[in-house]
Amino acid sequence: MTPTFPPGFLLGTSTAAYQIEGAVREAGRGPSIWDTFSHTPGKVYRGDTGDIACDHYHRPSADLDMIAELGCQTYRFSIAWPRVIPAGQGPVNHPGLDFYKRLLDGLHERGIIPMATLYHWDLPQPLQDAGGWAARDTTARFADYAAAVVAELGDLVPFWVTVNEPWVSAFAGYLQGRHAPGLTDLAAALRASHHLLLGHGYACQALRAGPGSGQVGIALNLTDVEPGTGDPLDKAAAERIDGFENRWFLDPVRYGRYPEDMLTWYGGKADVLFADESDLGLIAQPLDFLGVNYYEYQRIVHDQDEPVHAARELPPAGPATHGGVAIEPAALTRVLCRVHENYGPVPLYVTENGASFNDYIDPEGRVNDQERIDYLSAHLAAAAESIRRGVDLRGYYIWSLLDNFEWAHGYSSRFGLIYVDYRTQTRIPKASAAWFRGITSQEKRSSE
Ligand code: FCB
Repeated sequence: MTPTFPPGFLLGTSTAAYQIEGAVREAGRGPSIWDTFSHTPGKVYRGDTGDIACDHYHRPSADLDMIAELGCQTYRFSIAWPRVIPAGQGPVNHPGLDFYKRLLDGLHERGIIPMATLYHWDLPQPLQDAGGWAARDTTARFADYAAAVVAELGDLVPFWVTVNEPWVSAFAGYLQGRHAPGLTDLAAALRASHHLLLGHGYACQALRAGPGSGQVGIALNLTDVEPGTGDPLDKAAAERIDGFENRWFLDPVRYGRYPEDMLTWYGGKADVLFADESDLGLIAQPLDFLGVNYYEYQRIVHDQDEPVHAARELPPAGPATHGGVAIEPAALTRVLCRVHENYGPVPLYVTENGASFNDYIDPEGRVNDQERIDYLSAHLAAAAESIRRGVDLRGYYIWSLLDNFEWAHGYSSRFGLIYVDYRTQTRIPKASAAWFRGITSQEKRSSE
């Protein structure tokens, strides 16, 4: 059954610059930490890089036509900082900005509402050389970049996302080492998380000071965390993982404070005195909306041998995606309701949701991804259920439009509604693309 959404509800798809654009040395683009990381042997599966990716940089019109054919009312993409300010600071590279101007014009011509993300993990390498997000100065550079972008594109962008998933940037990048810049340093990771949030605060101010009247938000990856058993030790472990993954970001963004339990926990292991008096006020900017990227439901148990949090995730008890992530649609409803109740009122968008499956082209030349259709139908229904329970949810973006460079998994992990044959760059709409087209056309009819 297809869920129905309130009038004005937006359905779309989402992408990010480094994952799709390619053309990493064109039109003045500088290197980013993901260029460096992906070219470092052993960091990305099979040595894949984003050098070419989906070659989107060279075929924006054809890709925009596909977005239109899907019936997307909205499209979320990210702007590459190293295209706009190649050295991370200093002169603006206008040819870089022009690419996004053309993209935005193309969206408007097709009647598709853009949502632009300023930072989806591609920090200019020179800023990393100066300490990256662990260095406070990067926040000021991010504010300058935000100001440069809004000055040129402000009139074309109705929705801005400052930072995508600061948890991943800070903790996958500086603590777990599985993302760029590949560090394993708790103190640096905590500083990086704080600076990403502070950068968000500065960027909100810069965007609002610029031309246009775009709404401003941030996209947080939020996880539904439950204890694996009723044991008090497991409950405490789950509380810590909730603190680590959710509250460490939600509390400062909405209330201007870090969770006390986590400050105490980290305080025994690293310096937590990274915030200036005024920082927390700056981080807690008023938000026009909050983006929720939902992928994960985790059951957690205590494990003394696990570093940092003394907690471990149990393997999924039920169905899982190709990436081994538990499929638990009701968890999306729970996450949205929790944010609404504890951190609202604030309009919400599901800015990413999706799954990788083992997609392949069958002998008839089709990609029949029934698992993805099932996954997405169930999660759309879970999103609709949150609205029924009173959540102010305004839209939902599928991750992703296209198969693309899935970070450390390279091209082995496919999330798209559209299959990409990377040898030829042929795009093949999967069965899920036809399914989504059906959903968007029904939504259109019901809002007319
Ligand atoms: C999210 C990222 C996005 C993509 C999906 C699968 O964490 O924001 O770029 O990698 O996961």
